Amino acid sequence: MSDSLVCVKDFEKHAFSVLPRNALDYYRSGAGAEETLVHNRRAFSKFKIRPRCLRNVSRRDLSTMVLGQRVEIPVGISPTAMQRMAHPEGECANARAAQAMGTIYTLSTIATSSIEEVAEAAPYGIKWFQLYIYKDREVTKRLVERAEKAGFKALVLTVDTPMFGLRLADIRNKFVLPPHLKFANFMGDKATGINTTDTGSGLNNYVNRLFDQSLEWKDVKWLQSFTKLPIVVKGVLTAEDALIAADLGVAAILVSNHGARQVDGTPASIEALPEIVKAVGDRVEIYLDGGITDGTDVYKALALGAKMVFIGRPALWGLAHSGEEGVKKILTILKTELDYALAITGCATIKDISKEMVVPQEYYSKL
Ligand code: FNR
Repeated sequence: MSDSLVCVKDFEKHAFSVLPRNALDYYRSGAGAEETLVHNRRAFSKFKIRPRCLRNVSRRDLSTMVLGQRVEIPVGISPTAMQRMAHPEGECANARAAQAMGTIYTLSTIATSSIEEVAEAAPYGIKWFQLYIYKDREVTKRLVERAEKAGFKALVLTVDTPMFGLRLADIRNKFVLPPHLKFANFMGDKATGINTTDTGSGLNNYVNRLFDQSLEWKDVKWLQSFTKLPIVVKGVLTAEDALIAADLGVAAILVSNHGARQVDGTPASIEALPEIVKAVGDRVEIYLDGGITDGTDVYKALALGAKMVFIGRPALWGLAHSGEEGVKKILTILKTELDYALAITGCATIKDISKEMVVPQEYYSKL
């Protein structure tokens, strides 16, 4: 059956046919009218590849260095919450797939598998921990300490979520986490407060009740005061915020509109990338997520200045198909597509993808 699934979109279609509505809508949806959700993907077409010829591509290498560690492919897994709705092994299966493919797995704060379970499932993989800051700072601090102790190599601080966006499908469905699952990093209400709702999305109610809406950039310093882990700031879309983050000494910026789930009407991540690259240059590493479904999307992001890209939903579609195997298939598809793109455009290594090789569409319409 899976031999007939040959691209990310095939897996997406499959997931749409097998996942229960509550879970599918939660995974699939974007904020508001979902204009940005559609745009996140389409915007890649606004950039065109300028292939070079006859440059000996007989030996190719897709590996790269990220925060001082070697990854086999420049495609990692972004944090997505509640992965056990897609497959019984959820986050553990996803992390094992990333480990097998030699790439980074990012575990969400609001995961259905705990920090320790994921560390045990994928002991050799590069694991990062995504952090939401709770009003209860002691609980937040404890999460960071646990991640550090369990061998996670970076903290991904999500900065675009004082509240969660209005995702209409979740409001209609009165989204809650099924009763056999919980937020596995927590105890008590913080673990099971997501299993019920009086009205609207249970997730929004949970977040509005427990996340700290008073966060400011100075809180990055608070984080730095008790952790040695490098901090990746996730969710930046402007040069202004990128500069503040770089001045604070973060290790990296993940350019992201949260998979179009926060506020509708933002640019696609790939559109925001150039201004951020221009503003901070190589003072910090820059990554991108949002709308990546093809190896050529990866190629374009790298040419525009990203060191690495991450995928959210595509990994969920892989999980829904066949757990660890399914995510490996998704990563293998993206790897193969990127390898073809490299070879056919005259690049033997990731470093060979230079900025002249991808231009805005207007470059051609001006001629
Ligand atoms: C997310 N995202 C997200 N981000 C984060 O920092 N913490 C989280 O817990 C989640 N949870 C989450 C759940 C689901 C179902 C989705 C689709 C997304 C955002 C995620 O990390 C990433 O930015 C996007 O998913 C990237 O876009 P694509 O690859 O899904 O198009």
